[in-house]
Amino acid sequence: MQALELIISDIRAETPLIRTLHLRAPGGNSLPPFSPGAHLRVSIPGLADARCYSLVTFATDAAGFDAPPSYRLGVRLEADSSGGSRYMHGLAVGDTISVTGPKNDFPLHAATAGEAETVLIAGGIGITPIASMASALQAAGRPWSMHYSGRSIDQLAFRDELATLAGSALHLHADDDPDTRLDIGSLLDHLSPSQHLYVCGPKGMIDAVIDGARTRGWPASHVHFELFAAAAPLAGDRPFELELRQSGQVLTVPADKTILEVLEEAGCDPMYDCKRGECGVCTATVLEGEPEHRDYFLSDAEKASGKLIQICISRAKSARLVLDL
Ligand code: FES
Repeated sequence: MQALELIISDIRAETPLIRTLHLRAPGGNSLPPFSPGAHLRVSIPGLADARCYSLVTFATDAAGFDAPPSYRLGVRLEADSSGGSRYMHGLAVGDTISVTGPKNDFPLHAATAGEAETVLIAGGIGITPIASMASALQAAGRPWSMHYSGRSIDQLAFRDELATLAGSALHLHADDDPDTRLDIGSLLDHLSPSQHLYVCGPKGMIDAVIDGARTRGWPASHVHFELFAAAAPLAGDRPFELELRQSGQVLTVPADKTILEVLEEAGCDPMYDCKRGECGVCTATVLEGEPEHRDYFLSDAEKASGKLIQICISRAKSARLVLDL
């Protein structure tokens, strides 16, 4: 991924909590190409880890992706921000930010002759990659529809641009409106497993789509998702002992930290990428103990075997876990 210094050329409030930042190259040249679903990693002063923000575009011509004059990022101000969204919401026009990318971990499948309609499902700020996918599908003349859900209608960003882009292919859903609230089971009941599903949003929405699609016969290859949250503690999480068999270190993983975080604090240098249990980079071998799997990477059989674990997100059911690290 290439490193870029970009200037904020425009900022727009899309909802009370979501703003978009428009970024340009200092010399005004076009920016590196990106594909729908791609993101930038933004360096946040004072934070060790960069934050990922999806590129949003409503361009319906190839140039919007191949030689974009600017990038646009959508950022929701999180109440429990660890610094990323607060920093992004504190930027002003003219400021410079450091990014790497674009990188795409959530790509669209290739077009096929006579393909069925692709169904795009977004929750909250998950609309950013989904909007770019809609634009690319529209540009390519491929069939698609979109379901976009939020707590209330005024929290849905880009409503005017989406309406212009999608027309009757757009379905807006609000949790506080019983008439439009998104019912994922009912939606899937009216679709076919031959259709590709793309979902981006909170974990509950993604889990509902994955589980609902699986029970209705969807092949895993037709269910695409990107989680917009890192590992978060769940009620009832307990500390456990972690032994690293190769180094002999014995550590404690508290209820509010991941194995990965504890390893880093102990001076280890574990491999990781997404920190959301999606990419598979952080897989470790379990020698003793029972993992509590929270990832989306391992297969059901691998999870049932108890021999592998994604250390960025999964924990232990047992009081002690021994890893081959
Ligand atoms: S870092 Fe991606 S699955 Fe753990």
